[in-house]
Amino acid sequence: MSSSAQLKIGDKTYDLPIIEGTEGEKAIDISKLRDQSGFVTLDIGYKNTGATQSGITFLDGELGVLKYRGYAIEQLAEKSTFIEVAYLLIYGDLPTTKQLTDFQYEISRHTLVHEDMKKFFDGFPSKSHPMGQLSSLVCSLSAFYPESLKSNQTKEELNLSIVKMLSKMATIVSWIYKKSLGHPVMYPQNKYDYVTNFLNMTFGQLTEDVVIDPVVVSAMNTLLILHADHEQNCSTSTVRIVGSSESNIYASVSAGISALWGPLHGGANQAVIEMLEKIKEDGGDTDKWINKAKDKNDPFRLMGFGHRVYKNFDPRAKIIKKACDDILEKLGINDEVLEIAKRLEEVALKDPYFVERKLYPNVDFYSGIIYRALGFPTDMFTVLFALGRLPGWIAQWKEMKQNKEPIGRPRQIYNGAVNREYVEIDKR
Ligand code: ACO
Repeated sequence: MSSSAQLKIGDKTYDLPIIEGTEGEKAIDISKLRDQSGFVTLDIGYKNTGATQSGITFLDGELGVLKYRGYAIEQLAEKSTFIEVAYLLIYGDLPTTKQLTDFQYEISRHTLVHEDMKKFFDGFPSKSHPMGQLSSLVCSLSAFYPESLKSNQTKEELNLSIVKMLSKMATIVSWIYKKSLGHPVMYPQNKYDYVTNFLNMTFGQLTEDVVIDPVVVSAMNTLLILHADHEQNCSTSTVRIVGSSESNIYASVSAGISALWGPLHGGANQAVIEMLEKIKEDGGDTDKWINKAKDKNDPFRLMGFGHRVYKNFDPRAKIIKKACDDILEKLGINDEVLEIAKRLEEVALKDPYFVERKLYPNVDFYSGIIYRALGFPTDMFTVLFALGRLPGWIAQWKEMKQNKEPIGRPRQIYNGAVNREYVEIDKR
């Protein structure tokens, strides 16, 4: 294949280099196009725009392939743990036993959050959405750990900020949950691994010993692994672009949390359960709701269906669907909404509207049913997604810094008013 593409504008031809990734993806490099021709490209929603070259996650939306650092998601979900996957994403390779032990030890040294942070928790109304709290609290960490503000951190300082971010996030998420109940917070117990510690802080009680079920630990590990990274999605691109102005790790991750909150992104997991509950209350007529989703005059969309990149199937959804059956069976839970979800999927997968538009269940379609079975309330689902996505955000933020990427700053085509004369207010 040619190493460049030709773009003809008027009587001029521009040679644009072709870049090929290690998995065969091809891109036309337009980074010099404006300088050479005066033209920019226009791609609203970035459907065709590569914002970076990244060595972290590969996905093939046509074939339904997802790999972290070259390892298939199916293998990682089956064999690995969340903290091992976090190491893999952030540092590039699977850890040796020593590296993993050291990493876990480091994380366990920083699980406490500054006691003054509790005042922030106190300030939120008890029913305020956990994602708003999480975004604010994560950004607030920068006030307590100001060494993160240095934009030219040494390798050791950068690593410490990364470890602190990972450690404190689990504590903050569990404390948000405790606050919603009006319960006292549980402090981290460094004898536990990351996920058990998180679950203990979440479901443990000061008043009695609570044993965290290994089935729940295993399910949580699987869910967090499946959410850990997904290349340049909305929240990750946000983290990278905020970090590109040399904002600190807490501010960058906080921005990612805000981006994840929306129902078209991570907020879909909450929206799916709310939709399934609504369908249940409405009598469970899935055909009626499928028709609503197809009706262009009806704003209703089948939440948990469709994906910007996956146009065949979402490999994470396949794993989650199976995990959902297994976990509900192991926990002895019979959830009627699971049956509704399966019926919706079955009908949609045969319906020409969904088939033609290549709309399949995404990672969020079944995840909420598992979270619910594990004991989480609906409005915590997106926070759990954030906890899972954290290693990906960190890895992408670190890669952006190491690549010394320039500040992210898209162009636009201005189409507003031209040359208007100011009119005094009394004359308008
Ligand atoms: N229900 C009904 N119709 C849909 C759905 C859906 N869930 N998703 C897409 N469509 C239709 C659109 O109406 C459009 O139809 P048209 O061509 O007749 O106009 C067509 O399919 C293409 O949809 P777009 O919105 O253009 O696709 P895009 O790639 O921009 O959006 C998105 C992807 C946002 C995920 C979309 O499919 C959606 O809104 N899904 C529901 C929300 C959801 O589950 N989000 C989670 C995504 S996964 C994640 O972020 C973790």
